[in-house]
Amino acid sequence: KMGVEVHSVVGFRNKDLVILEDDFKNNSDVFKLMTDDGSYGEKGLVTNALEELIKEGNQYDEVITIGPLIMITKKYDVKTIVSMNPIMIDGTGMCGGCRLTVGGETKFACVDGPDFDGHLVDFDEAMKRGQMYKEFERHAYEESCNLLNKEVK
Ligand code: FES
Repeated sequence: KMGVEVHSVVGFRNKDLVILEDDFKNNSDVFKLMTDDGSYGEKGLVTNALEELIKEGNQYDEVITIGPLIMITKKYDVKTIVSMNPIMIDGTGMCGGCRLTVGGETKFACVDGPDFDGHLVDFDEAMKRGQMYKEFERHAYEESCNLLNKEVK
């Protein structure tokens, strides 16, 4: 609607998890859908598709990304805005759950973000912090799945 050319690359683990395909398609000049297992679209990661598009000669003014924490754009020096998705607890900047280091400064995704300059985010730290809650997430997932498995009487 703003007259810019939009190339979208979206990725999902498999075909069953694909969402918003028509919305993406209808708002994109170029659209690539990737699945990890190749059950739909192209097999591979969004970073593979993005690198392919860059290598094909596409010049991007800006990449906006949500999702995989590993960036490809630094290598090609493309401005990148990344929407960070750490665990948030209070959402007020008090608990520290969503703490990140951006450009050497401490930031909180809930109040300072969630969008940051992707080239300034300390992704090594963000990924390590993301792992801290894996066990809790697994338990929460199993509990909700067990609730869904219970018979409704
Ligand atoms: Fe607690 Fe951001 S969610 S500081």
